[in-house]
Amino acid sequence: MADMAGTAETGEAPRHILVIGMGAGDPDHLTLAAVKAMRRADVFFVLGKGKEKESLTRLRRDILDEHLTGPYRVVEADDPWRDRTQDDATRYTSAVHDWRHRRADICERLIIEELAPGQCGAFLVWGDPALYDSTLAILDDIRGRGTVEFGHEVIPGISSVSALAARHRVTLNQVGRPIHITPGRRLAQGFPEDDGDIVVMLDGHETFTHLTGRGLWIHWGAYIGTPDEILVAGPLDEVADEISRMRAEARERHGWIMDTYLLRQGPRGEEAAAGEEAAGRPAEGADGSVGGPLG
Ligand SMILES: C[S@@+](CC[C@H](N)C(=O)[O-])C[C@H]1O[C@@H](n2cnc3c(N)ncnc32)[C@H](O)[C@@H]1O
Repeated sequence: MADMAGTAETGEAPRHILVIGMGAGDPDHLTLAAVKAMRRADVFFVLGKGKEKESLTRLRRDILDEHLTGPYRVVEADDPWRDRTQDDATRYTSAVHDWRHRRADICERLIIEELAPGQCGAFLVWGDPALYDSTLAILDDIRGRGTVEFGHEVIPGISSVSALAARHRVTLNQVGRPIHITPGRRLAQGFPEDDGDIVVMLDGHETFTHLTGRGLWIHWGAYIGTPDEILVAGPLDEVADEISRMRAEARERHGWIMDTYLLRQGPRGEEAAAGEEAAGRPAEGADGSVGGPLG
């Protein structure tokens, strides 16, 4: 339910914020709810930096051009600097909190200065706002400051995790087993002890290269849903070096990379093979690799 902030004290019409999941790269992954929400917004706020920002801002503008009929307003702001040198768990968490707080300072200013009372502002969030995204925490932080009143609502999006599974035509879980979703740095600190499969995000250090020799199967994807998409699948021991090489090349070419992968534990389950047969396609070949459409 939309959360409409009370404005009894100021007598101003309420400001409203839409947090819209826009999918993780494929413009067709925008939902109808997202398009309807975009059409309600008076202004779109975009935070970013560097080459990654250029590409993602272009994609956001392409999406807006395609779905909005009238003129629209975009306000861009630079993402604050973030300390990425802290590997120790406590210091890492505190570096992220500090960065979020400075992002909240910027968003607070945007809401106060760029959104008039009664207007509706929107953040187009990459993938799904509920998954490794700071927008909702930032809005909570701003509301806690009491400097500006606003209501907000969340429109879910197709996450990079859903897109990864769809592009590889696999389920994330095996029958009756759990799934773990983790940043690469946490996986590097310890491998789950149960038989669950593992989705790894935010992995700048190629953690998978340290996990060979465990009989894992990997489904890897970079720039999923974009024209630069690369997909590789296979036994980790056989494809780890190849993924590492492709990853380095792609990162060099684009100046940035976003990749996600699923690590499947143990030999491929009978359930997975049965699922593939039921879907009318054979299991993957001996080398297990699947080339992306443009990769
Ligand atoms: C800050 S998180 C944002 C996740 C996003 N909210 C979602 O729902 O996918 C960024 C991470 O998402 C993953 N990611 C996002 N978009 C991706 C894409 N198009 N292809 C591969 N991985 C992607 C990568 O693991 C990246 O490091």
